[in-house]
Amino acid sequence: MDAITLLKNDHKTVEDLFKRFEKLGPRAVKSKEDVVARIIRELSIHAAIEEMLFYPAIRQAVDDGNGDIDAPNVKDAVLESLEEHHIVKWVLSELDGMSAESERFDAKVTVLMENVRHHVEEEEGDLFPQVRKLFPKQHLADLGDAMAKAKKTVPTHPHPRSPDEPPGNLVAGAGAALVDKALDAGRKLVQQKAPRTGRPKAGSRR
Ligand SMILES: [Fe+2]
Ligand SMILES: [Fe+2]
Repeated sequence: MDAITLLKNDHKTVEDLFKRFEKLGPRAVKSKEDVVARIIRELSIHAAIEEMLFYPAIRQAVDDGNGDIDAPNVKDAVLESLEEHHIVKWVLSELDGMSAESERFDAKVTVLMENVRHHVEEEEGDLFPQVRKLFPKQHLADLGDAMAKAKKTVPTHPHPRSPDEPPGNLVAGAGAALVDKALDAGRKLVQQKAPRTGRPKAGSRR
């Protein structure tokens, strides 16, 4: 699948989850936590493949002078994207393991959705059309394949303090992904064993 189609599909998945969250009533504590857990997972994976593969490929192509594009504008768009990811990952890390009964939970999710919707609008409206001019079709298809494969091994939780550009994120990301897998497995086990009562949730950490 072409890289841009793959990323747009991810955006749609996340937007569907946002809409699902918005429809939940104030007392749907468990459902809210479940939807937010999925949002955290989807956005963590999506941000990771963009930061590990998509954005670096764009910067490389810009440096190589490919395509009839406004190069400084595209480079700035990537840098802005990294900063927007950074903020989103902080909010995600605060929501990760937070009780939906917390007074701040809904407000945090609202701010998260505002930030992500703004970021998606910029990517789809500004960055992606430039990227289409930057790469030949086959290159976009190869990049899409690489991102689809990477989805299986990248971190599934947010790591806002970790490096977000290669080579640092490739090294740190591999370790973080293993920790996240163990964390996910641990949470699943605890959820199976115990009905949801006390807090903090098992495995919660920043
Ligand atoms: Fe994106
Ligand atoms: Fe992004």
